[in-house]
Amino acid sequence: MKLFLCKPLIQHLELNIQSRLWRDKLVSERTFHSDTKENPMKEPKDFIIFPLDLPDYDQAMHYVNLLKEHVGLFKVGLELFISQGPRILKSIREAGGAGIFLDLKLHDIPATVKRAFMAASLHSPEFVTVHCDEGGDILRSVAENNPGKTRILAITVLTSLNQENLSLLGYREEYTNDLSRLVLLKAKTAKEAGCHGIVCSGHEVAIVKKELGSELIAVTPGIRPEWSLVGQDDQKRIVTPKIAVERGADYIVIGRPIRDADNPADAAKRVADEIASAL
Ligand code: C5P
Repeated sequence: MKLFLCKPLIQHLELNIQSRLWRDKLVSERTFHSDTKENPMKEPKDFIIFPLDLPDYDQAMHYVNLLKEHVGLFKVGLELFISQGPRILKSIREAGGAGIFLDLKLHDIPATVKRAFMAASLHSPEFVTVHCDEGGDILRSVAENNPGKTRILAITVLTSLNQENLSLLGYREEYTNDLSRLVLLKAKTAKEAGCHGIVCSGHEVAIVKKELGSELIAVTPGIRPEWSLVGQDDQKRIVTPKIAVERGADYIVIGRPIRDADNPADAAKRVADEIASAL
């Protein structure tokens, strides 16, 4: 695309962002359940992020309507966002209740990630995720150009990566032998770049909070209540909701134990009760 097309496009994007800032502010004030420090009214259910790992609009909205009063945020990942586009965000917002965690795991050159984040923030999600694999420049370019109230969460180390994968990727032994050091290094980079928080497993959340302070929001996936433990599970580094929150998680991502329960709303309530026991 020629350069002369880019400037009007940027201006259009920036104008759009400005005109929506007030709405962003209203939406945030109305629905956002912040971390405990900023929001003493945070309830146990507000810790729960439910991933809408579902193939189509109708199924996703079925769970939104079922769970909107029982969870804090709905996580929209790549599959749902790519297949349904921004309309799914609009529908979740209109349903009321829970907020939106837009899990795009952005990863590209700083200019592109910055612009992608700005475009995502037009839809006023409470959180958008960005990878921190390329270091602080990408994260800084997003943080310094964040046009609204959407919070930036940095992905530290995917729980699908193990020691062997990381060695093959060229990581030094001091990190492959002790994953928490690698998570901590990435979390520190994210904090220094101005991110609001990070995503890490329940095995690293305590050290991250201890070393980097409680203000850095920690989102923890890989959650399995004891009542949901099953033999074959692809989540390897799991902890219970209670342990995750006791270790300092501000939010937990918990999908299948709720989604596949006979009564998903009851399952979410059980998770919230367990969280309450940890507070
Ligand atoms: O609880 P369950 O295993 O069903 O949760 C799956 C969800 O957790 C998926 O949406 C996946 O993207 C997310 N997840 C994550 N970070 C990880 C592992 C899983 O956000 N490290």
